[in-house]
Amino acid sequence: MDILNKIREYREEEQKLTWRGTFAEYLEMVKERPHIAQTAHSRVYNMIKDAGVEEVDDKKEFKFFSDQMYGIEDSIEKLVEEYFHSAAKRLDVRKRILLLMGPVSGGKSTLVAMLKRGLEQYSRTDNGAVYAIAGCPMHEDPLHLIPHHLRDSFYEEYGIKIEGNLSPLNMMRVEKEYGGRIEDVMVERVFFSEDKRVGIGTFSPSDPKSQDIADLTGSIDFSTIAEYGSESDPRAYRFDGELNKANRGLMEFQEMLKCDEKFLWHLLSLTQEGNFKAGRFALISADELIVAHTNESEYKAFISNKKNEALHSRIIVMKVPYNLKVSEEERIYKKMIKESDLSHVHIAPHALKIAAIFTILTRLSVPKKAGVDLIKKMKLYNGEMIEGYNAQDVEELKKEDPDEGMTGIDPRYVINRISSAIIRKQLTSISALDVLRSIKEGLESHASISKEDKERYMDFISIARREYDDIAKKEVQKAFVYSYDESAKTLMDNYLDNVEAYCNKNKLQDPLTGEEMSPDEKLMRSIEEQIGISENAKKAFREEILIRISAYARKGKKFDYNSHERLREAIQKKLFADLKDIVKITTSTKTPDESQLKKVNEVIARLIDEHGYNSVSANELLRYVGSLLNR
Ligand SMILES: Nc1ncnc2c1ncn2[C@@H]1O[C@H](COP(=O)(O)OP(=O)(O)OP(=O)(O)O)[C@@H](O)[C@H]1O
Ligand SMILES: [Mg+2]
Repeated sequence: MDILNKIREYREEEQKLTWRGTFAEYLEMVKERPHIAQTAHSRVYNMIKDAGVEEVDDKKEFKFFSDQMYGIEDSIEKLVEEYFHSAAKRLDVRKRILLLMGPVSGGKSTLVAMLKRGLEQYSRTDNGAVYAIAGCPMHEDPLHLIPHHLRDSFYEEYGIKIEGNLSPLNMMRVEKEYGGRIEDVMVERVFFSEDKRVGIGTFSPSDPKSQDIADLTGSIDFSTIAEYGSESDPRAYRFDGELNKANRGLMEFQEMLKCDEKFLWHLLSLTQEGNFKAGRFALISADELIVAHTNESEYKAFISNKKNEALHSRIIVMKVPYNLKVSEEERIYKKMIKESDLSHVHIAPHALKIAAIFTILTRLSVPKKAGVDLIKKMKLYNGEMIEGYNAQDVEELKKEDPDEGMTGIDPRYVINRISSAIIRKQLTSISALDVLRSIKEGLESHASISKEDKERYMDFISIARREYDDIAKKEVQKAFVYSYDESAKTLMDNYLDNVEAYCNKNKLQDPLTGEEMSPDEKLMRSIEEQIGISENAKKAFREEILIRISAYARKGKKFDYNSHERLREAIQKKLFADLKDIVKITTSTKTPDESQLKKVNEVIARLIDEHGYNSVSANELLRYVGSLLNR
């Protein structure tokens, strides 16, 4: 019943937030809380700011975006500061259409969707509250009711500049319904909602021949002309175009540059002059943020056309490039997988990271800086420490190519390849190798990638593969030596017992049977050989160790395997050699003995419990590392 409670709570909250009163009462509120009369641009900026800003090393991270948009903080900072912030201050950029330009699947639509969902939420808060003339289809700003000749005195009293004219419809309503008494005009609080078409609009171009400008600016309602007697009676007009509905908020203009010119001109007059023409009326004032998006090639075609010059100067272009950090790319995939129907599939550790390494490589431009290759650049961008380089170098690398991140493989491609591998092979578990293989197969049949790019990309797959080999080996080693200290200690104690017996020409006692045995030459040599101690040198080495032990004993210090550097090295190497043998067992036909089997199972259990594998992927990893070690 939880959900029913929530539905009820939501409704109650909405009722609590509703407000209705006269214009006179509204003005009292404005006096106390002038921000309720802010412009659309200012509201968007405050919404972003109110969500929180974190400053890290001179850079601003806007929380509003950071829980869904990853790795493009620089572009977002530019967008917020250069567009939203300036527009909020009523600077001239407000009068231009905001055009987001970026490569496919680079997050443009996601960014706009966040603004829309954000505004819906924000309009329900105190800081983001919006009020409008009650019953107006365009949710007109109540301050438009103040006649022009009084606006200067209004500014003196309230400190608020009013822009825009009362719409023809409301002008008529003031006369007919309120007898000209503007102070009695009813005002109400409105809540933005794209579904209900309040304050949020979307326009996407369809066939240019059939598309009607009415989609943007509304149209005559012929059924009511008889009632009102004339086409120029505003009551006979339906103010239901996207521009009308998005008034006070935001309108998204999808694929703007695919649109017919006559549509663009409407937008231009709206952004430039703050008004647009509808039907046979005087210009209609509107206050809204217009966000459009496009890709680079479309944009280039658009600006190369002389005819578009005037339009061009009225657009402000903001780049939304791809993310260039491996770790952030991994987060993008995780998010997309969570949102998709793949979320039930086991994705082996590192699979997404390896895919991300490949993807980022395709997006980077070749560094000019001496000593930096593509792989180093990738790691530096990812915030990894590389000796001899610092944050300054990273900034310099970024400045080398302002167009970096505008090309390469997009995140959706990778997700598609992952899902196609899963579906085709009916996998319930997918590893880094499966992902790379699927990406590679996809590239081979990819029609829109040039031959040179394909070759480059194949190289990147090999690089990613090598990175994976390293990671896989380390991962198995880590799981193997987790009881490292203990194994090392046991091995050393064993060795020292034998060395002592050897030097003193004693026998050892078997701990189980109590039988006497000679020192275990094979064991001692297997350790000593690890650090290159020859048959001739073994005696001196063993004696030296004994001397060290007694020196420690005299000082009352405990001798452990860290007390003798070369011995420690020998023990570690011996353990790793054992690891190799055990891992190799998993790929050879030899049946492992009991202790080996036990160790293999321990490693697998460790991989599953601590490193996020399942039994399929853990076994696969061991087999793979085994084959690497066999090479
Ligand atoms: N930097 C990023 N951070 C988080 N998610 C991202 C990022 N870039 C892309 N995505 C994800 O990739 C997917 C595609 O993004 P979206 O549809 O917003 O791209 P687009 O730029 O509008 O693409 P198109 O040009 O194809 O319309 C979305 O799931 C989005 O969340
Ligand atoms: Mg899109």
